[in-house]
Amino acid sequence: MKIVVYPGSFDPLTNGHMDIIKRALFTFDHVVVLVLHNPQKKTLFSFEERVQMIRDSVKDINGVSVDSYDGLLVDYMTKHNYGIIIKGLRATLDFEYEFQMALMNRKICPTVETVFLMTSNDHSYVSSSLIKDIHRHGGSVKDFVPPLVETLLDKKRGGTT
Ligand code: PNS
Repeated sequence: MKIVVYPGSFDPLTNGHMDIIKRALFTFDHVVVLVLHNPQKKTLFSFEERVQMIRDSVKDINGVSVDSYDGLLVDYMTKHNYGIIIKGLRATLDFEYEFQMALMNRKICPTVETVFLMTSNDHSYVSSSLIKDIHRHGGSVKDFVPPLVETLLDKKRGGTT
């Protein structure tokens, strides 16, 4: 069985992430969506909230599981005997950052390879940070996130979670 790990901070999960998950399943039998800490980001949603939001959003897609890890991505990979990481690339926007992480991960763990999927045109401008910004200022994000995530964002704004 060909398994791929899709890591990220997913704060929150977007339609762009969902697109990568679904398209990864054309090439791989199983996708593990892995929620990790990104030390450069202060998150709106807790670790547990992000895991649950992804679980609920992918529950009808066969071949997807969700996990979380508080540590190095490559340590998680070797611990579970996984060999391939998948990431989405939005044109040149992500290139430097993703290139550096892929090379660093390969340097510290040469058995782990990173593959990239080019984002679909429809999602090339979607990012979790922009979504949070638009939503915080009262804009609609319904075209950019799964319905459940929009509800969770509304609850955060309303101060109910
Ligand atoms: O969605 P993001 O925030 O761009 O994803 C970045 C993430 C979470 C994949 C990255 O920060 C990460 O791998 N964090 C875990 C700790 C780690 O392995 N750091 C070394 C990266 S070379």
